[in-house]
Amino acid sequence: MSIEVIQTTTETQEATLEEARARGVDLHRLPRHIAVIMDGNGRWAKARGMPRIEGHRNGIKSVRETVRTCRELEIPYLTLYAFSVENWSRPRLEVEALMRLLHTFLLSEIREMRDNGIRLHSIGRTNDLPAGVRSALDQAQAETAECKTMQLNLALSYGGRTEIVSAARRIAEEVRNGRISTEEIDEALFSSYLTTAGIPDPDLLIRTSGEFRVSNFLLWEIAYTEIWITPVFWPDFRKEQLFSAILDFQRRERRFGRVIEADVGL
Ligand code: IPE
Ligand code: IPE
Ligand code: MG
Repeated sequence: MSIEVIQTTTETQEATLEEARARGVDLHRLPRHIAVIMDGNGRWAKARGMPRIEGHRNGIKSVRETVRTCRELEIPYLTLYAFSVENWSRPRLEVEALMRLLHTFLLSEIREMRDNGIRLHSIGRTNDLPAGVRSALDQAQAETAECKTMQLNLALSYGGRTEIVSAARRIAEEVRNGRISTEEIDEALFSSYLTTAGIPDPDLLIRTSGEFRVSNFLLWEIAYTEIWITPVFWPDFRKEQLFSAILDFQRRERRFGRVIEADVGL
C-alpha cells in the first residue's frame, strides 16, 4: 500500500479546489457531513473475473481518494460504511480477508491521518472485531485524538437498528436508576445515546453500485439527508463522482418539511 495518497500538500489541495470550481462546485456551500455506503466491490471483481477480495483491495484506493478529497475541500465530517452487522454472515474467508485489509489499512494510515489533521472515530459494535483489529483501531483513534481539521468516522460492525436498540436500552437503565425521567426523553437526549452522538447528521449520503436502499445505515441520522446514488462500483469511485454528488446536492432544495417563503402566496 502506498502511503502518500492521503497526504495533502498545499499544491494538491489547490489543484483539487481548482478542479472542484471548474466543475461548478460552490466551495462556500459544501456539505458539512458526507456519508458513504461503499458498495459493489464484489461485482467489480466479478466483472473482471477476479475473486471478490480483489474488489475489496481495490476499494481501498477509493477510500484514500475520497478521504483526501474531502480533507482538501475541508469537509469537517466524512462517514464511511465499511462493515455492517449483517456482513458477519458472509463466508468466513471473505470476513477474514476484510478484517485483514482493515487491519493493514489502519496501521498504514495512522501517520498520514495525524499529519493531515484527520481524527479517526469508529461507530458500531467494535467489540465484535478481532482483537488485533480492535487494538489497531484504538491506537489510530488515540493517536489522532487531537486532530481538528476533519473527522473520519468508520462504521464497523455497524447496524442502524442495533444502534437505536442499544440507545433505548441504555436510556431505560438510566430511567430505572433514577438518573433521568421519562419526560426528559426527547430527540436531543435520544441522539446523545447513539454512537454518532455529537456528530451532525449527514447532509449528503452517497451510495455506489446503483442499489436504491440504505442497508441499515444511519437510520436515525439520515431523516433529512439528501441521497445520491451512482451505478459506479466502489473501486471505480473517484473525485469525479464525488464532485458530481456535491454538485447535485447543491442543486437540491432542502425543505425539511417546511414551505419555502416565496411560495407561501401560491
Ligand atoms: C461493499 O461491497 C463492501 C462491503 C460490504 C464490505 P460488496 O462486498 O457488498 O460488493 P457487492 O455488493 O457484492 O458487489
Ligand atoms: C452495505 O452493503 C454495507 C456496506 C457497504 C458495508 P451490503 O452489500 O452489505 O448491503 P446489501 O446486502 O446490498 O443490502
Ligand atoms: Mg454489496
